[in-house]
Amino acid sequence: MTTAQPSLAAPGAAGGSQDVQPTPLALLLLGREADPRSERGVECPGDLPSPSDPDLVERARAAKEKLGDKVFVLGHHYQRDEVIQFADVTGDSFKLARDAAARPEAEYIVFCGVHFMAESADILTGDDQKVVLPDLAAGCSMADMATAEQVAECWDVLTEAGVAERTVPVSYMNSSADIKAFTGKHGGTICTSSNAKRALDWAFEQGEKVLFLPDQHLGRNTAVRDMGMSLDDCVVYNPHRPNGGLTAEQLRGAKMILWRGHCSVHGRFSLDSVNDVRERIRGVNVLVHPECKHEVVAAADYVGSTEYIIKALEAAPAGSKWAIGTELNLVRRLANRFAPEGKEIVFLDKTVCFCSTMNRIDLPHLVWALESLAEGNLVNRIQVDAETESFAKLALERMLALP
Ligand code: 13P
Ligand code: SF4
Repeated sequence: MTTAQPSLAAPGAAGGSQDVQPTPLALLLLGREADPRSERGVECPGDLPSPSDPDLVERARAAKEKLGDKVFVLGHHYQRDEVIQFADVTGDSFKLARDAAARPEAEYIVFCGVHFMAESADILTGDDQKVVLPDLAAGCSMADMATAEQVAECWDVLTEAGVAERTVPVSYMNSSADIKAFTGKHGGTICTSSNAKRALDWAFEQGEKVLFLPDQHLGRNTAVRDMGMSLDDCVVYNPHRPNGGLTAEQLRGAKMILWRGHCSVHGRFSLDSVNDVRERIRGVNVLVHPECKHEVVAAADYVGSTEYIIKALEAAPAGSKWAIGTELNLVRRLANRFAPEGKEIVFLDKTVCFCSTMNRIDLPHLVWALESLAEGNLVNRIQVDAETESFAKLALERMLALP
């Protein structure tokens, strides 16, 4: 479990997620609060600068300059351009956590990303380093799809079916610290979208089955596309149905037990989007993230993590055409970056597809966080409790040790 430290700038802010009542959705949308039952945090305190303040860029720059080496700003690839311009490094969630760990002199790590990423950074950084998430409502709907209680219940179901002993949990980085701790406690590892195959190879050396959490698509795509398993080797555990909606026999017959979670952004790409873009743009290369549905991944030309997507476009020849199936902030940035080199890059789907929680970190929130820190007020700290941290770290370290 994570404690999101109450802000000094927010007297009366609740300290533990158990203590506060659920917040009405309208307040969440206004960006002042967060759902205490989710992996996000507790609330979003403080008086934010107005988004129309013409001095926001200058204010962010001045606060960052005042903090100097004390602050290190990390930006996930899906962040807005207005935020990315202040990032000291950009990357995927794993690279950013490692980058944070490599900066022990930075007292404050300002994480422009979502809650599970800030938790991972806290786990991997020193005890004296403070990780700050500029808006505590920046959660991840996929991470929210697997709670500690649900996963504990699932393990009971697996135990009852006589398969738990032979099952190794593998959890995607996009999960709460609680789920990472569960994974560490039960002999499993974390994976990212770039090392999922290596993690599964390792897991199948330890046991006969894998419980893959929480993204069914990454689990299925890796098992079937990269490891030669069949779709019949996979079953989907639905935490909202008794016994996950599976019989003991189905559990015994499966190699991959996939948690029924998905990314609401990548889940929107469809086979129709792929067929449409192939019709519209002759010779287009379709490149998608492995969080997309299996039928989309199967129809694509290339599949990979955000880092892979960037590298593939860097290496692409002038004149090549690309349709990208991942978050829109990144695709738009890449389209602008590579247009002068004559590479045509379009978004795979016709409808707009930002990650709404990634987008919660905007310039007003970043300015507020940086100015608060510069004034000596530690705000929106993300801190994983010691017990959760020790087991979650075990799972993360197993990933770091993967061949
Ligand atoms: P990567 O950046 O690890 O590819 O993950 C994508 C994602 O959905 C992050 O939330
Ligand atoms: Fe979560 Fe998907 Fe947004 Fe990533 S893109 S933070 S997985 S909802």
